[in-house]
Amino acid sequence: MTTDLYQAPAKLSRKNLKQGATSVDVPRNTINPIDRTGQKSTESRGLFNSKIGFVLAAVGSAVGLGNVWRFPYFAATYGGGTFLFAYLLIALLFGTCLLVAEITIGRMTGAGPLQAFRKLDKRFAWVGMLALITPAIIFPFYSVIGGWVARYSFVFLTGGAAGAAETGAFAAFTSQTWSPILWLGIFIVMCAALLAQGIRKGVERINLVAMPVFIVMMMGLAIYTLTLPGAGEGVRHFLLPNFNELSLNTFIAATRQSFFSLSLAGGVMVAYGSYLKKDASIEKAAVQIAAFDTSASLIAGFLVIPAVVVVAGIDGLGQGAGLLFATLPAVFYAMPGGAVVGAIFFTLMLAAAVTSGISLMEVVVTTVTDRTRLSRPQAAWTVAVGSFLAALPVTLGMGMWSHVRLGGRDILGMMNFLTDTVFMPLVGLGTVLLIGWGIGPKRIIEAVEASGRKFRLAGLFTVLIKWVGPLLLSGLVVTSFLMAFGVITL
Ligand code: TRP
Repeated sequence: MTTDLYQAPAKLSRKNLKQGATSVDVPRNTINPIDRTGQKSTESRGLFNSKIGFVLAAVGSAVGLGNVWRFPYFAATYGGGTFLFAYLLIALLFGTCLLVAEITIGRMTGAGPLQAFRKLDKRFAWVGMLALITPAIIFPFYSVIGGWVARYSFVFLTGGAAGAAETGAFAAFTSQTWSPILWLGIFIVMCAALLAQGIRKGVERINLVAMPVFIVMMMGLAIYTLTLPGAGEGVRHFLLPNFNELSLNTFIAATRQSFFSLSLAGGVMVAYGSYLKKDASIEKAAVQIAAFDTSASLIAGFLVIPAVVVVAGIDGLGQGAGLLFATLPAVFYAMPGGAVVGAIFFTLMLAAAVTSGISLMEVVVTTVTDRTRLSRPQAAWTVAVGSFLAALPVTLGMGMWSHVRLGGRDILGMMNFLTDTVFMPLVGLGTVLLIGWGIGPKRIIEAVEASGRKFRLAGLFTVLIKWVGPLLLSGLVVTSFLMAFGVITL
C-alpha cells in the first residue's frame, strides 16, 4: 500500500500502459471509480496541490457555524470566562494533538476513515464506522442552520433588516414549514454543486477570499460592538473566569465544542490527510489550523456576547441556540449602515458554513465513490438528496413537530446531543486508544517526522494521547450515558 498517495496517478498510468488495460485493480480509497473507468480525475488525487491548499481547506472545514453560532452560546451557557479558560486549554493542547493524529492517520494509510482505522488495527474498525456515521448525522442539522444563515443573508441583501430585527422574528421564521425547508434545500444545493465540481475549483477559491475577509469584517464588527454603552459587562462575562465554577461539566462542554469546532472525530481530517503530500509538515499545519480556528471563535465571542448584553441585558445570554439569530439582526439594525454590514456579515458566514458543510459531505461522498460505481457528481447529488430528506424532520421539529420530544430535547437538539456527547467522544476515545495503546504513539511520531522535520510536540503528544485523552473522553462517554438515562443532569 502506497503511503504517498500524491504519486498514485503516475503509478497507475504506468501500470495501465504495461497491462494495456483501462481498468486495473487498485486498492480501494486510493482511486475513485472515475479513474477505474479510465477517465481522468483531477480532484481525487490532486486534491491538495499545495500545502497552503490543504491548510486552507482544513481551516475552511473548521471555521464555520461552530465558531460564530455555537461558540458564543456555549460560552454564554457554560459560565463565560470559566468556559473560555477550559476551552483554550483543551482546544490548543489536546485539539492540536488530535489534529496531528487524525491527519497523520489519513496520510499514513492513504484512506478515508472507514478503511484507515481498520488498516492500522482491525480491532479499531468500529472507530472508522462511527467516524463515517458522525458527519452523516451532523450534516442534516448543520444544513438546517446553514439555511437560516442563507435566509438572513438574503433578507439583509434585499433590504429586510427592519423585519429581521423585530423581537420574535427568528422564532416566527424557524417555526414555519416551507420557508426553512426551501432555505435548507438551497444550502444543500450550494454544497453539492461545489463538491460535484471538485474541491480545488470550488472550495479552495472560496476559502482563499472568504476566510480573510470574514475575519477582518468580524474584527471590525467586534470593535464596533465594544464601543456600545453597556458592552463592558458582556466582555467581563466572556473573559473573567470564576474558578469556583470550574467543574467537570465545564471541561466536558469545552471538549465537545473543541471537537466540533476543529472538525475532529468526524472523519474529515483523516480524509483530508489522505490527500496530503508526504513532505508537508503536519505539525505546522495542525498548529495553524487550531490557531486560526480559535482566533475566529474568540473574535465571534467578542462580537456576539457583548452585543447580546447590550441589546437584551445579561439575561439575554440564556437564549441558547437562538442567541446569534435572535439578537445580531437587532444589533445591525441599530447601527449606522447596519443593513449593509448585516448583509456582508451573513453572506460571509454563509460562505464559512458552506465550506464546513462541504467537508462534512465530503466524508460521505468519498466513501460512496469508493464503494460504488457512481461518479463524483452522482455521488454528491445522491448524498445531497439523502441529507435533504434527513433534514426535514429536523426543521419540522422547530415548528409543526415541536411537540416531538426525544429525551427532553427537540429533534435538532437530540441530533446535536447524539453526535456531540456520544458519537464524537467515542470516535475520539477510539482514536486515542488506537494510537496510545494499539499501535503506539511512536508510529505516529515517526510518520509525522517522515516530512524530514522534528515533531517538537512529541512529548506532549504522547502524554495527552496516552493518558489525558482516554481519561477525559471515557469520562465524557460515561457521563453522557448517565445523562441519556436520566441518572444525572448536568
Ligand atoms: N467545524 C465545523 C464548524 O465549526 C463543523 C464541522 C465540519 C464538523 N466538519 C466537521 C464537525 C466534522 C465535526 C466533524 O462549523
